[in-house]
Amino acid sequence: MSTTPTDKRARVFSGIQPSGAVHLGNYLGALRNWVALQHEADAVYCIVDLHALTLPKEPGEVAQGTLDIARLLLAIGLDPRACVFFVQSHVHEHAELGWLMQTIASYGELSRMTQFKDKSGRSTGFISASLFTYPALQAADILLYDTEVVPVGDDQRQHIELARDVALRFNARYGETFVVPEHHIPAAGARVMDLQSPENKMSKSIDSPQGTVNLLDTPKEIEKKVKRAVTDNDGEVRFDPTSKPGVSNLLSILAAATDGDPAKLADQYHQYGPLKADVAAALIALIEPIQARLADLDDATVRAELRLGAQRAQAIAAPVMDRAKQACGLLV
Ligand code: TYM
Repeated sequence: MSTTPTDKRARVFSGIQPSGAVHLGNYLGALRNWVALQHEADAVYCIVDLHALTLPKEPGEVAQGTLDIARLLLAIGLDPRACVFFVQSHVHEHAELGWLMQTIASYGELSRMTQFKDKSGRSTGFISASLFTYPALQAADILLYDTEVVPVGDDQRQHIELARDVALRFNARYGETFVVPEHHIPAAGARVMDLQSPENKMSKSIDSPQGTVNLLDTPKEIEKKVKRAVTDNDGEVRFDPTSKPGVSNLLSILAAATDGDPAKLADQYHQYGPLKADVAAALIALIEPIQARLADLDDATVRAELRLGAQRAQAIAAPVMDRAKQACGLLV
């Protein structure tokens, strides 16, 4: 992102769901960019607990998940003095603008969302209406902060496109109201694949414990998962995601973890064993310092930071909400 010293700093917004363990895909695809961007932009980061409710949860599960992920995000390097860091449900404007966005998004465009098709297709039981309307809430999350840049992994590309489309439609219908956001998807690590089934992305909502590297895994677990990662039988180390998805995923992970280039890294290996050993070592080096910092954070400190963050977030969101209500003709 280019900002010169005379530029106003760009507004950055992103969110993560507090459901399931945070994995390597979340980290390489999004979270480490959050940390980098907080120092060069005006960054707002949110734990999107309302989104987590789109799939059924046990009582208390979301609250605990929210605290756990908040601690982890602080351990990863989010600094509440450098960014605004808060919980979605603590700022009621998200739900409120989410409703308005449902009036702007069309049934047809929501039906085309691949995440809805995947998640509803995998479900054997109850499918909530919110799973379908979820991208409208996500658009509200983004638009509430006059966001210019949204750092996300590749799987969120379609949702950010939808946020752009609804912003443009709202502006066309009611007059200039919202900033039209852009996604920021990293060159390396944008789509980390499952180690056991490398044709699928690594995911919190798919049950593949051996294919998913979690940020709380021990070094031994990481070594074991990487060692057992599915490759292929031809024994050649080459970056070719279509015909060699497993090996290419390992090369992509190594590239993202070491700031390298996957095709160039491939030239350094002639066997899968040494590649896997280097991937495991790079991941352990990445994850160990995060785990060490996690031990120092207690829940009371985390709750206090989140309360303060919600006040700061609301100070930005409330005037934008008022602007949207005025624009669409509600009596204010
Ligand atoms: P969530 O919670 O599923 O994921 C959080 C972030 O991690 C990225 N990610 C990945 N990146 C690379 N490889 C993977 N295998 C991988 N899996 C996940 C995601 O792209 C995301 O950036 N709908 C969003 C949360 C959200 C949001 C928002 C994001 C709600 N409102 C507004 C941005 C702006 C989600 O479920 O992300």
